[in-house]
Amino acid sequence: MYRTKTETKLVWWPTPQDYNEAVQVPKLSLQDPELREGLPYTNALDLPRSITGSFASVYRMHCRHKDFALRLFLSNIHDQQERYALISDFVQHDDLPYTVTFDFLKQGIKIHGDWLPALKMDWLEGDQLDDYIVQHLGDPVRLGVLLEKFVRMMQDLQRAGIAHGDLQHGNILVCRDELRLVDYDGMFVPSMEGYSAGELGHRNYQHPARAAHHFGPYLDNFSAWIIYASIRALQIDSRLMHQLGGGDDCLLFRQSDFLDPIHSPAFAALERHPDVRLNELSKFIRAQLKADLPHIPFLGATVPAAADHELHPIAETAPVIKNGARIVRGNLPDWLQDDNAEVLAKSGASAEKVKTTTTRSGPGLPPVSPLYAPIPGPQKAVPQSWTVPTKPAQQAVWLKPGMAASMTNNNNNNNNNNN
Ligand SMILES: Nc1ncnc2c1ncn2[C@@H]1O[C@H](COP(=O)(O)OP(=O)(O)O)[C@@H](O)[C@H]1O
Ligand SMILES: [Mg+2]
Repeated sequence: MYRTKTETKLVWWPTPQDYNEAVQVPKLSLQDPELREGLPYTNALDLPRSITGSFASVYRMHCRHKDFALRLFLSNIHDQQERYALISDFVQHDDLPYTVTFDFLKQGIKIHGDWLPALKMDWLEGDQLDDYIVQHLGDPVRLGVLLEKFVRMMQDLQRAGIAHGDLQHGNILVCRDELRLVDYDGMFVPSMEGYSAGELGHRNYQHPARAAHHFGPYLDNFSAWIIYASIRALQIDSRLMHQLGGGDDCLLFRQSDFLDPIHSPAFAALERHPDVRLNELSKFIRAQLKADLPHIPFLGATVPAAADHELHPIAETAPVIKNGARIVRGNLPDWLQDDNAEVLAKSGASAEKVKTTTTRSGPGLPPVSPLYAPIPGPQKAVPQSWTVPTKPAQQAVWLKPGMAASMTNNNNNNNNNNN
């Protein structure tokens, strides 16, 4: 537990370790009747498993009828309850398939005698957007379907007059191929007109000029284009994931690309890519870096043309794709080294531009509109063994309460039998 000073009083605020200890005894530390009767999922060491992001630790609670996400806050946010009441009111009445109703529990969890707030939400079985993309790299049809769904979701949010506020890979879950949104801390709903933003979103998805006074339905527009461009680029050329070191707390772009676009490896890779669609998309996004946030267009099915004359060309010295230059974890397998060389050779000014669209669709997948159709011709399947950042094995499992212990017992028994 550590101390934080608020404007009015000195308060204690729990550490993730405090939360870890408390969730092990729900009957003593939780008040919600369903959660009290549950137990947290664990890791292989039989300790509560949580996902700790920037603002919260999230536990998966196994309760009598279903699983819940128990979200515990890592800091004290002063008008949190008021904001959550407005967001909850909206989410309860909207007909958007992407949002999930939740309960803001004022007396959520008791730590060292003090009650602290918590959120209770249905547990969503699915993959974070980044994991889903990694799993389906080399499957342009599936990524095309994902793109369509993403564009549709952003258009639906626009129609509803809301913005998520922190649109990024960790807050978009793909559940049975459908998109769901979590983490509503920074959400704008129409009844919040006149508020300012409580947070500024993930740095690898945000316009560098975003500030607290930017708070309106336009809030997601920049990040939506970043996500769109990343998926589109990976659909067209999955090798970009390795070449740009993607998937490491980002998709393809990082804050450094937005701060210095002229020397950015990501913009350089897209603008020198043989596929003309990526060149245009990249220029359009670079142009948005000069725009005022409220003037960035909503994500649409077609990419508006960038006013080319206003854009500086990418610097000659911008790092051309280098094998694994930005890869922070793992090494490139041999087969990919060859592919990189091929891309390098193709990315010269004389490279033939690719212009295509045919519609293909995989078994069990909805048809892909020509807009998101994959490029024709055989695509090299990406081997499962490649080295996009993966989660440490211990974190990667959610074990139902008691399972880790029974696995250990079984192992011990097996060992005894072997002896
Ligand atoms: N309802 C939920 N169902 C399943 N997973 C969830 C749920 N809510 C959050 N998560 C997972 O927990 C992670 C962290 O939660 P989040 O609310 O985004 O916290 P933070 O504000 O710290 O990013 C998310 O990225 C997501 O993977
Ligand atoms: Mg989050």
